Amino acid sequence: MRVTADFDYSSYFKPRVPERRAPFEFYPTPPSAIRALLSVERFEGDVWEPACGDGAISRELVAAGYDVIATDITDWGYGYPGYDFLTLEKPFARNIVTNPPYGFGLADRFVEKALAFTADTGGRVAMLLNIASLCHPKRHDDFVRQPPSVIYALDECVCFPLGDPARATAHTNKHRYAWLIWDHAHEGDSVIRWLSTAPFA
Ligand SMILES: C[S@@+](CC[C@H](N)C(=O)[O-])C[C@H]1O[C@@H](n2cnc3c(N)ncnc32)[C@H](O)[C@@H]1O
Repeated sequence: MRVTADFDYSSYFKPRVPERRAPFEFYPTPPSAIRALLSVERFEGDVWEPACGDGAISRELVAAGYDVIATDITDWGYGYPGYDFLTLEKPFARNIVTNPPYGFGLADRFVEKALAFTADTGGRVAMLLNIASLCHPKRHDDFVRQPPSVIYALDECVCFPLGDPARATAHTNKHRYAWLIWDHAHEGDSVIRWLSTAPFA
């Protein structure tokens, strides 16, 4: 769905956005986290960043030589705003790389949608997720059915609300992040690797 100016964001982000959540779940990725990923993973073909925010991930992908399509539900000053990833019917590129919105179950819906798109394109999915999300009764069966090929546990990564350290809450620093990679050709269990962001800061 292409989102128009009269789109009702408040009902989309139900229940009402608690004060401690950033608008549109905007917690930009530190560049070191995406640089670290790109030091160990390559994607064949073009890449879609479907929740591009202000371009934190997209810029690094472009710098690494990828053709990148960057979209977002709203306008953070980069890419094509007004595209709700969850209602789009066709993929814009072969691979999908993003740090999705987390709250309100949105990350689960992003993973599900990205896996459905890449099942068609033959591409891979990379999502920056809270590592605690691996351990949840609602996700257990999905992970067992379609395990990520690799889980990269990051040593240090903080995604601040609106990218502003001054807005950090008690929750901000508690998150621990991992890149999860899904490859439709992968068979067997997930491999876990440890990845340091420090060399890429
Ligand atoms: C955690 S931020 C990450 C931004 C960017 N991916 C990055 O890594 O810096 C989540 C982003 O998802 C966007 N977003 C939220 N819901 C969306 C939706 N349904 N479709 C597309 N983008 C969405 C927000 O506007 C925000 O930019």
